[in-house]
Amino acid sequence: MCGIIGYTGSENVKEILLDALELLEYRGYDSAGIAVRSRGMQQVSVYKCAGRVSDLREVCAQAGSGTERVPGSPGQNDGAFARTAGCGIGHTRWATHGGVSDANAHPHQVGAVTLVHNGIIENYRELIADYDLEGDLVSDTDTEVAAALLNRFYEGDPHEAIRKTVAKLRGTFALVVMFADQGDVIYTTRNVSPVVATLCDQGAMLASDLTALCRFTNRYFVVPEYHILELRSDAVRLTDFDGNEVEPEYLTADWELNSAGKNGYPFYMEKEIMEQPQAIADTIEERVLGGLPDFSADGVPDELFTDCERICIIACGTARHAGLVAQALVKSILHMHIEVEMASEFMYSDPVIDQKTLVLAVSQSGETIDTLEAVKYARRRGAKCLSVINVRGSSIARESDYVLYTNAGPEIAVASTKAYTTQLAVFYLIVARMALLRGVFTTEETQSYIRELQRTPDAIGEVLKKKRDIHVVAGKLLGAKDLFMVGRGLDYSILLEGSLKLKEVSYIHSEAYASGELKHGPIALITQDTPVVASVTQEKLMSKELSNIKEVRSRGADVVIFIKESIAGSLEEEYELIKLPDMRDEFMVMPASAALQLLAYYVSSDKGFDVDKPRNLAKVVTVE
Ligand code: G6P
Repeated sequence: MCGIIGYTGSENVKEILLDALELLEYRGYDSAGIAVRSRGMQQVSVYKCAGRVSDLREVCAQAGSGTERVPGSPGQNDGAFARTAGCGIGHTRWATHGGVSDANAHPHQVGAVTLVHNGIIENYRELIADYDLEGDLVSDTDTEVAAALLNRFYEGDPHEAIRKTVAKLRGTFALVVMFADQGDVIYTTRNVSPVVATLCDQGAMLASDLTALCRFTNRYFVVPEYHILELRSDAVRLTDFDGNEVEPEYLTADWELNSAGKNGYPFYMEKEIMEQPQAIADTIEERVLGGLPDFSADGVPDELFTDCERICIIACGTARHAGLVAQALVKSILHMHIEVEMASEFMYSDPVIDQKTLVLAVSQSGETIDTLEAVKYARRRGAKCLSVINVRGSSIARESDYVLYTNAGPEIAVASTKAYTTQLAVFYLIVARMALLRGVFTTEETQSYIRELQRTPDAIGEVLKKKRDIHVVAGKLLGAKDLFMVGRGLDYSILLEGSLKLKEVSYIHSEAYASGELKHGPIALITQDTPVVASVTQEKLMSKELSNIKEVRSRGADVVIFIKESIAGSLEEEYELIKLPDMRDEFMVMPASAALQLLAYYVSSDKGFDVDKPRNLAKVVTVE
């Protein structure tokens, strides 16, 4: 949570920071701020406000239109100043400590120190008392306490002050600091909360994630924990806490430099839904050899799949829903014991984990702290961990024994779409590989399974062509306060995700329920004002699902059914249907999910909401 940017170089600092914050806004968007200094100037100026980056732009514009000009930005009649080099740091906030206000927005400035922070300083109260910092504070944030402590320890040596401060901090943090007397140098250090950095043609920059850097370069490195990175316009210097120089390990992102833009779509969510056929193909194709799933290029050994006796999937949110689909596949095809754990509950639930457990951690960002901590815990208990991750080099990737990357490219909308379906694609590959290795599938059966998987991009493409029909159905849900989504088996798993999508972007209270269970309580809530969305994609469950649908219909509910085309028969005469292209039942998850994503998207956009930034949420959740 919270987006962080730091830049020092020859370009327009203010614009670089504001543009980057816009790209990082999905990490938190209740307030924003920047601190800037032009080269040769002593003063570090801070501009910040509650609200979005667009509000911060206003604040900066107003400051720039008066006698005061925002340093690091071109003056109206000042050609030389337009090329002014300088440095600056910026932050977009998801409030943890202290409400949403101008004062609580970052950067925080105490004495010589200007600082932005991502994470939580757990012992901030003790620090205030121990170092008598109260008088230095004007906000309610834990961050300002870190700034005040750093300022207290600062006697001209940034490294020493940072080391002393970090030694006193408990919690997670990425701190990015400018010192008043250190020219255009930016310092950063971190524990858990991520920081990536690069040196490129425009200067040196760092950010909480790659999204903000990939406009400039696809080469970057992850700042290691408990190191200090110094950014200068023409150099980066990384040292450990003993002062030893460390060579940054550069990685190459395979994301295109402009792939984090909206490409003409009104919202990232729509763009990302539309990108799914390509993203899935990119995830599958490089892992199919001779028609069989193959992870040798990923360095994942077959013993991982043959030596295990049980599987444990750990994830949060949408990634966990992908895990629930995998659970159904593992049970029905591999007949193995499998559990899907909420990462946040995992460590406190006495999980059954040992050397014979294959842990599959799933995460788009690779930074979700609950998942990260759960992975560390499972590995301490002797389990091997294979992670399914979208962001290369992320914290969970680094903590895992093996990684299978989804090739979804940057996902910016808070509501996850293409990350989910590419996670599913990886799970189909894993299940197929395990079935082959464990003698459940013959070679021919595996090839046939993979051929069906390779059809999923086209099947999703077919659904996307029906977006107008889905938009019409969405129009009928706009007035709903409560809604149920019902289905059985895999349909239920699909709907758990469909329902999460709808509630997070449309604010309609939506509950996914196993339709056979409805009559044991929730059916009491069904009235003519409670629309029901049903998924009917599993042939063997169809007749029972239709009985359950009749039960809600008899209680006055309007029903729309997302149904596999070949089994729709004459249902059209009775129900509103969205027909989904035919696939083998276990693959119907793919077209059905894309259809439900579009449904949620249109409800939200038709209600006039900021689809990409639902209230109270953040894309990357780095607090427990
Ligand atoms: C947040 C996001 C969700 C995401 C979840 C897990 O809640 O809003 O979209 O599914 O975190 O994130 P991860 O990056 O671990 O997949």
